[in-house]
Amino acid sequence: MPKLAQRMSRAKPSAIMLIAEKARKLKAEGRDIISFSIGVPNFLPGPHVYEAAKAAVDKDSGQYGSNRGPDALLDAFLKHIEAAGFHGYQRKHCAVGIGAKHMLYNLAEALLDPGDEIAFPAPYWTTYMDIADIVGAKVRVLPCPASQNYKLTTTQLDEALSHQPKVFLFNNPSNPTGMVYSRDEIAALADVIAKYPDTWVITDDIYHRMVFGEHHYHNFLHFRPDLADRVIFVDSLSKTYGMPGWRVGFIAGPEVIAQAMVTLNSNHITNVPEVAVAAAIAALSGPQDIPARKVREFEVARDQVLAAMQAIPGVICPRPEGAFYVFPDISCAFGKSHEGRAIPDDVAFCAALLEAKGVACVPGSAFGEPRAMRISYTCPPAQLPEGMARIQQFFAELT
Ligand SMILES: Cc1ncc(COP(=O)(O)O)c(C=O)c1O
Repeated sequence: MPKLAQRMSRAKPSAIMLIAEKARKLKAEGRDIISFSIGVPNFLPGPHVYEAAKAAVDKDSGQYGSNRGPDALLDAFLKHIEAAGFHGYQRKHCAVGIGAKHMLYNLAEALLDPGDEIAFPAPYWTTYMDIADIVGAKVRVLPCPASQNYKLTTTQLDEALSHQPKVFLFNNPSNPTGMVYSRDEIAALADVIAKYPDTWVITDDIYHRMVFGEHHYHNFLHFRPDLADRVIFVDSLSKTYGMPGWRVGFIAGPEVIAQAMVTLNSNHITNVPEVAVAAAIAALSGPQDIPARKVREFEVARDQVLAAMQAIPGVICPRPEGAFYVFPDISCAFGKSHEGRAIPDDVAFCAALLEAKGVACVPGSAFGEPRAMRISYTCPPAQLPEGMARIQQFFAELT
């Protein structure tokens, strides 16, 4: 049989999907499963989004669409990012794609030749590593353990950028940790970035509206607008608007980058489908009460998960200030066993937890931090206390 391309030996199925799949299978067998595994927001957008989508079906143009994205969508996106403090952007600085994942993949293709270096902090969103592998980039991982609140320091960044990676990829608020960098932290990191003009900077900030309490979202560009010629902002409807399946993502950045996205779109996807475009415009420009309410609900859920995890002796659980994840360091369990089953590491921990208690969490090694696990807490609120009680019970039963 002829062989697949070599790059396919580097492409792996998502570790998160594997756990979710196992949980689904157990559920189908009749087990009572509580899933904290997939990073889905678990809410639906308001009726205005569905009305816009239905109207788009009724007046289908019957044509291909714009490779960049139609003007009305670009304009709605520009207003949306203006509200987040991004000024001076025009349509020519933006492009639309099939979700942020697609935009990140396009950026990797546009910026990284095989052997080029990409640097990013760990814990990282699993797909960063997979995309880098597929395009044959060299990865420099910057480890940020729980002891430093999972946050990158200026010293680490300075050291990494001194190697002149082609791309530095940064995610704030973070999946999987939920960490949100403070104003001072972002300003200080921006000053380091300014010292290294040969590195592109991708800021994957798709959770930028999901920030709790008195915390605020900041981007390097808010402090160093002079970085605008090499910072690329990535955004998406998936989490903020409860629209992961609609597959709409964006970038705003230098014109040359937006143009590269248009070129890749013209060869990969041609355009985002008209119905999804209409829904996206409605989501961005319509009432914002559902997303705002959801963020407040997630904050309450965060408090519940955090309190439960922090009450477990030995678990270290930094306090997330955004997104919908908690990422406890569970390494105190390693070397123990549960009902005779050895728990050497995070993968064994999550497998035993799922089988013994029916709770699905994702092993931290999927995110480059094998001492931890990710709890995605967007399940129906009534399930949350039960799920957390089962995790506590599991820890209590370790010997
Ligand atoms: C940090 C981060 N970036 C990008 C994505 C991809 O989002 P999309 O659904 O827009 O492709 C995700 C989804 O989980 C994510 O967590």
